[in-house]
Amino acid sequence: MDYYTLLKFGHIIGFTLLGGGLLAVFVSEFQAYRTNDMKEFAESSRYTAIFYDYLVIPGALTVGTTGFFLVRELGISFFEEPWVVGMWGLFLFEFIEGNTITRIQFRKTLRNSRNASEAGNILTEEIREDARSLLNQIVHFLDIPITTVIIYCGTVRPDSWVHVLTAIVIALCITALLVIFVPRLARKGG
Ligand code: HEM
Repeated sequence: MDYYTLLKFGHIIGFTLLGGGLLAVFVSEFQAYRTNDMKEFAESSRYTAIFYDYLVIPGALTVGTTGFFLVRELGISFFEEPWVVGMWGLFLFEFIEGNTITRIQFRKTLRNSRNASEAGNILTEEIREDARSLLNQIVHFLDIPITTVIIYCGTVRPDSWVHVLTAIVIALCITALLVIFVPRLARKGG
């Protein structure tokens, strides 16, 4: 296997781990919105932390590293092609946001829900709201739409900024819809 193919293989492994991890987090978070049971709530927070640490982070590090070396191997500029800037720009945004706002919140949620569960507390709206603030919901529901835009950049390779920015605007609209409807749908189905 030559160097380029090895990088491409690593890139595909990386975004498979990352994508799979983000979808798994979506399911565990959905369970947290759906349940009325404190133990289940704590358990879903535990799975969210597991999926982030064991799938999303290794996937992100792999896709980011191989992506960097793919750009160099292909001899393309990091700043000229809208699709390349779209890939590393959105990736950096997601990586920083994921390891700051999101990580601080899901670690806090894990700690608080575990303590509340061990204390035998019942699941109140207060515990729920503290666990998933509006900011946390926005950054959480942003993950999958933004990753989809990155995949669009890597596969369709839009050569105009208008196309990349339009894709980002569509992703932001979908994120708004997820923030508005997913917690409500989950609660309705609970
Ligand atoms: C969430 C992060 C990322 C995802 C989901 C992702 C996804 C993809 C996908 C689906 C492809 C197309 C693969 C194919 O043609 O078979 C691709 C190609 C590519 N990606 Fe990424 N990528 C990510 C991050 C990055 C980063 C951070 C960079 C650069 C620093 C990068 C650089 C590239 C390059 C240069 C290609 C073209 C490879 C080629 O022509 O063979 N990617 N990526």
